[in-house]
Amino acid sequence: MLIGVPKETIPGARRVALTPHVLGVLKQAGASITIEPGCGQAAGFSDAAYTEKGAQVASSREDLFGKADMVLQIHALGTNPVFRETDLPLFRKNQILVGLMDPLVIPDAVREANERGITAFALELLPRITRAQQMDVLSSMATVAGYKAVLIAAERLPKFFPLLMTAAGTVSPARVLVVGAGVAGLQAIATARRLGAVVEAYDVRPAVAEQVQSLGAKFVQLPLDTHDAEDKSGYARALSDEMQRKQRELLGKVVASSDVLITTAQVPGQKAPLIITEEMVNRMNPGSVIVDLAAEHGGNCAVTRVDEVVEHNGVTIFGPSNLPATIPYHASQMFAKNLVTFVQHIFKKGELKIDRKDEIVGGTMVMQGGEIVHPKVRERLGLPPLA
Ligand code: NAI
Repeated sequence: MLIGVPKETIPGARRVALTPHVLGVLKQAGASITIEPGCGQAAGFSDAAYTEKGAQVASSREDLFGKADMVLQIHALGTNPVFRETDLPLFRKNQILVGLMDPLVIPDAVREANERGITAFALELLPRITRAQQMDVLSSMATVAGYKAVLIAAERLPKFFPLLMTAAGTVSPARVLVVGAGVAGLQAIATARRLGAVVEAYDVRPAVAEQVQSLGAKFVQLPLDTHDAEDKSGYARALSDEMQRKQRELLGKVVASSDVLITTAQVPGQKAPLIITEEMVNRMNPGSVIVDLAAEHGGNCAVTRVDEVVEHNGVTIFGPSNLPATIPYHASQMFAKNLVTFVQHIFKKGELKIDRKDEIVGGTMVMQGGEIVHPKVRERLGLPPLA
């Protein structure tokens, strides 16, 4: 089995799907590795670092796709605006692709890729079970984003984060509010606390209150009936329109008294919930900063514009879509560790073992041998269930 690692192609890409650290594990499992020249350069990994660990360097991208049995990418199909032109024509029948693909949000890209007869595994669809935790790239990348969001806010805020007692007087700490205390939110809380801010956090899932408190932040309790806010996979369900309206009304006061607002709220496969209205932003003090980590999925804040910095009534709103690319060394290292754990799951003792009855394999496999096999993706494409 030859595993190919191409250079990432989305605009602003700096990460790479596999790092030299993990090549030994793949070799032990019986795989060989070929990389596209310069694939890890922007993340801090030279071609020599890969060849020292036994990888070959392909002569070109075409050469790599032509040889590889399995291609590992961070951004494939719907997550990559240039995939259709640059990569899709290079795939051949029965080649295996593992990476992020956004198959539920952009299912048309799945239909096109399926015409090439490839077998593809979408890492967004990984079930949230204990066994799959070490493969969970979404959690890893959310960790990076949550950390960096706080650094962006701290850099822009015209205030200190920590409490300071100086000869020039006492400086009161910044007030940070985190909305959505999932993986990114919890890392944002921890980072803001390390910098000395007073942190509050809100989430629609009451179960996270304890995690928020254990990081030294205050959980904002809103008098809303959220007993069924969490589905059985641990994700939030979408709120009704009436509940959303009430949530905004109740949250307004806390938002107005915050210096920094980090929003991370998402509902898988759907547009991000609108939680912060323009009117709520208007009530914040000038100089306040919002970092909206849901920008790519429509934003939690009405004023957010994806990949832009908006100035609104003295408040700065950031809508970054690819923060993991700003810490490419460790983001790649984490992604690679997750990816290799997944590959080890389907490739054992030199042989591919694709058992669709396995929850991890069946949960992530989108297409195989010219057939779209994932039930939810079929549903999105209006295809009947498979027998
Ligand atoms: P996410 O990125 O889908 O959403 C972020 C946060 O936004 C979630 O905590 C969600 O409850 C919250 N949210 C959604 N709608 C909201 C609204 N209207 N108002 C306020 N908050 C709202 O979720 P993420 O961070 O990927 O994970 C959610 C949970 O899944 C984790 O906290 C954890 O319990 C579980 N998990 C389990 C894993 C496993 O067992 N393998 C791996 C990763 C996460």
